[in-house]
Amino acid sequence: MLTDKNILLAISGGIAAYKCAELTRRLKERGANVRVIMTEGAKAFITPLTLQAVSGHPVSDDLLDPAAEAAMGHIELAKWADLMLVAPASADVIARINAGLANDLLTAVVLATAAPLAVAPAMNRQMYANPATQSNIANLSKRGALIWGPASGEQACGDIGPGRMLEPMALVTLLEQHFSTKQILTGVTVTITAGPTREALDPVRYISNHSSGKMGYAIAKAALALGATVKLISGKVAIDVPQGAEVIDIESALDMHQAAMTLAPQSDIFIACAAVADYRCADIATQKIKKAGDSMTVTLVKNPDIVADVAQLKENRPFTVGFAAETQDVEQYAREKMQRKSLDMICANNVATPGQGFNTEHNALDVFWHGGQHSLPLSDKTQLGKDLLELIVQHYSKREDK
Ligand code: PMT
Repeated sequence: MLTDKNILLAISGGIAAYKCAELTRRLKERGANVRVIMTEGAKAFITPLTLQAVSGHPVSDDLLDPAAEAAMGHIELAKWADLMLVAPASADVIARINAGLANDLLTAVVLATAAPLAVAPAMNRQMYANPATQSNIANLSKRGALIWGPASGEQACGDIGPGRMLEPMALVTLLEQHFSTKQILTGVTVTITAGPTREALDPVRYISNHSSGKMGYAIAKAALALGATVKLISGKVAIDVPQGAEVIDIESALDMHQAAMTLAPQSDIFIACAAVADYRCADIATQKIKKAGDSMTVTLVKNPDIVADVAQLKENRPFTVGFAAETQDVEQYAREKMQRKSLDMICANNVATPGQGFNTEHNALDVFWHGGQHSLPLSDKTQLGKDLLELIVQHYSKREDK
């Protein structure tokens, strides 16, 4: 699986750097081409000569070295890579990558590469637990980086806890897994809306619904596994971000509409799984609304229909898939929605059936398109996400063939 794969191993300063000789050997044994970048800090833990010997190539360590730039410059390295692995990734290097700095070769190449970025954190457990590091790692993950590790255990400093770099063979396994799935969606951008919207009444109250985001996130994971570039426009949810997806956090339907109209023309497939509020408050109170009388009236105005606006795009219209959450006459309402919103496909779920639909682990879908339909039976949302995506890809590919 790693044969002829170009792995750019970027080593930063940490005691685990010494394990990179072993990691390089194991990758080479499996047929990968390995080139190594080292920071100044890394060279305090292992010599460039060792990495040159095991990788079979000179190590790159200086952004401003004319000789190195003339041989294989930083932009060429960035283009050469099929994947860039930063291992060990110190707290400092993670912070600099997150900030978008380019003040050494490693960070400059991270910015310059279009290859997937994998980061293997390695640091003292307290540094790892620090909110600054946690926030940096979470941001990298949101922007699509693969976060591999850290492992937990005894550390070089004597502490015990999370912060050890994953062992070389564990990293090799993750690399193999990364390259093993048939990446049929490589080069395809899939944008997915997921979760609920929140429509503010005043600074402390809002109208929303029970969507957990599980269905949309499962579709995002399935698309990532097939190699797609995934943009996830997400309402407030309490589930983990799928590693590798770019997540755009939103609150209201208007926020979601704005994000969708920006991203949809850059996407090949658009899947609207979010439970979007059809209406929002006409006037959001600037101060907390005071209790007065036995009833109150709120005037609502219609929100834009996000998926319908995407489907109406005159230029760069993506293959557009909607959902329909129904409690009765599911097929009739779903087909009517597909027609009215000019969708390519619609995935209908009966949200009145106990154990499926909103905020459940399972779901079942009846998928309709012009001239056909297919039922995906009750299963957990992870499996359903995969099955649904397979169906969507079949129809998207047919359209592409035309
Ligand atoms: O998030 P989970 O807890 O896992 O639950 C999953 C789910 C039940 C939310 C999901 O399977 C689902 O059915 N999503 C669509 C919910 C919905 O709002 O359906 P609808 O029938 O009201 O809307 C039809 C379609 O138009 C949907 O694709 C919706 O995203 C879209 N829409 C609706 C209103 C609006 N203003 N803009 C939109 O884009």
